[in-house]
Amino acid sequence: MSHIRSSYTDACAFYGRHTPRELAETYGTPLYVYNENILRQRCRELMGLSAHPGFGVNYSVKANANPALLKIVREEGLVVDAMSPGELYMDELAGFTPEKILYISNNNSAAELQNALVRGLLVSVDSLSQLDLLGGLNPGGKVMVRFNPGIGAGHHAKVITAGKATKFGVTPDKLDAVLALVKRHNLTLAGLNQHIGSLFMEPEGYLNAAEVLLHLAERLPEEALAKLEVIDFGGGFGIPYRKYDGEARLNMDELGARLHALISGWAAKTGYKGRFLVEPGRYVAAECSVLLGRVHAVKNNGEKRYVGTDLGFNVLVRPAMYDSFHDLEIYEAPGPQDRAELLQTIVGNICESGDILAKDRTLPALHESDVLGVLDAGAYGFTMGSNYNMRRRPAEVLIQGDGTARLIRRRENLEDLARCLLD
Ligand code: LLP
Repeated sequence: MSHIRSSYTDACAFYGRHTPRELAETYGTPLYVYNENILRQRCRELMGLSAHPGFGVNYSVKANANPALLKIVREEGLVVDAMSPGELYMDELAGFTPEKILYISNNNSAAELQNALVRGLLVSVDSLSQLDLLGGLNPGGKVMVRFNPGIGAGHHAKVITAGKATKFGVTPDKLDAVLALVKRHNLTLAGLNQHIGSLFMEPEGYLNAAEVLLHLAERLPEEALAKLEVIDFGGGFGIPYRKYDGEARLNMDELGARLHALISGWAAKTGYKGRFLVEPGRYVAAECSVLLGRVHAVKNNGEKRYVGTDLGFNVLVRPAMYDSFHDLEIYEAPGPQDRAELLQTIVGNICESGDILAKDRTLPALHESDVLGVLDAGAYGFTMGSNYNMRRRPAEVLIQGDGTARLIRRRENLEDLARCLLD
């Protein structure tokens, strides 16, 4: 038996000492499979962006918060963010200590902010209203403020987080109001941060926005600039989702060289001794995972061939939510089948017609019992999953550095679906 379409995972020995069909049989499907070597490689590429002494990488755990993966990220020297008590809890489970966690909040309650403050975390707020709230909770403390540089970027309108049409950040014209609130609560403005949006493949926009944030820092009174400890440029580093079409990678050498020149030049000019952070989520986690699923039914409805799988949008919502493209692989056919290329639409098992994983793809004909692999599923995959249709969240398996598999999250069972019920 041979794989039908697997040149990408073959080339990087993604499944280590295992085969995808064997993993699907042992652990069931849907199954998120992660590769430790790829995760480490992505962390190292990011850590290598700049040799400036204050440069660091703040992994945005909203992309993937499994503590087994977070531990690897910690070993690679990254710090992490959290934007909710739940993400903070996962960071702590993975062994991150308070000085390694930034709390980048958005519209948190007083209790949620307090939860971060009692742990001694540096908290970023992204409105005057939340700055006032935080000042009341923590007078005399430190705070970070998220600005909106007016430049947005992203693969879909739903993930552009700066510019005019977004709920995020404080616009730079409100700097005086920020400083007044900081003074009123006797706070120290210890950090500035921003995030322009998710998935850029050209460095230009990111670097321009970074410059805007540095210009803003220069507008601070001298004594305020001297107290600044962190400047965080945000995430958004893209990955090539169209691997089988030969899509180019983000040029990390160019981005790194230009970012390094920008921050070291600026630090030399201003005397800034603090940290510079980037805050990627997707770049760290996306490519280290393939989501395995199984074909349960094939049919023609009119002209269209539908391939029905167990990969509903409860498991991976990105295609349904953003029309995102994920490449597919097809593994080890159980017997001789016609594999001529056909136009096919791959769907899940959720009761909605928008439950489409891959629309109108030309792929070798898929058949019942085939095992499918959805590439680049590690970021915003499991974390955005749900129990819709009372389906259980999938298991997660890690292919460790030595090629062996380790279950890092068991599949939910029926009792899990009922665990919060009171009657
Ligand atoms: N920092 C902040 C404040 C963010 O809001 C985000 C992502 C990041 C960092 C990391 O962004 P990344 O490097 O992963 O692009 N669910 C969408 C992406 C939403 C991103 C939300 N914020 C998707 O699946 O494409």
